[in-house]
Amino acid sequence: MTRPDSTDTSRDAASFPSRLWRYHGQQGELIPLLQSAQDHFGYVPRRAIKQISATTNVPESTIYGVITFYAQFRLQPIGKYLIRVCDGTACHVSQSQMLIDTVEDELDIEVEGTTEDGLFTLLTVACIGCCSLAPVIMINDDTHGNLSAAMVRKLLKKVRRNERKKAKASAGGR
Ligand code: FES
Repeated sequence: MTRPDSTDTSRDAASFPSRLWRYHGQQGELIPLLQSAQDHFGYVPRRAIKQISATTNVPESTIYGVITFYAQFRLQPIGKYLIRVCDGTACHVSQSQMLIDTVEDELDIEVEGTTEDGLFTLLTVACIGCCSLAPVIMINDDTHGNLSAAMVRKLLKKVRRNERKKAKASAGGR
């Protein structure tokens, strides 16, 4: 089992701790607690698992079991850019696998992986509701459709280029 690392990126300043404090010991509260932790950190870090275990008296091993059972939970932080390649029916018949292969090759990661620089995470998802644009990918909230492998490579290079520019600008501003 992959264990989370110790870094986290806080997304929602209050939701997880406040939900933790509202725990009533009811059956079925574990999943909402884990969802809340993931909303808060972007994934479920080890320290959240420890906190949940201490509050609920559910052993950490059981909590890890629940996390790995449900595909919605992540034990690793996601990259700054979340790439979701649609693999719904319309996209699948329009070569979504080719887009997945291209992203994997371009970024040297596999599905559910994150690049070493923490910039990109690759996921596949079911229909994202713009089948007429198939094959489709989303990069964070931006949707890109009618894609070829070359267009995907271009998109990823553009994101990297923009990131380099930003890094340069902030280094120059110090
Ligand atoms: S199947 Fe990909 S957007 Fe609908």
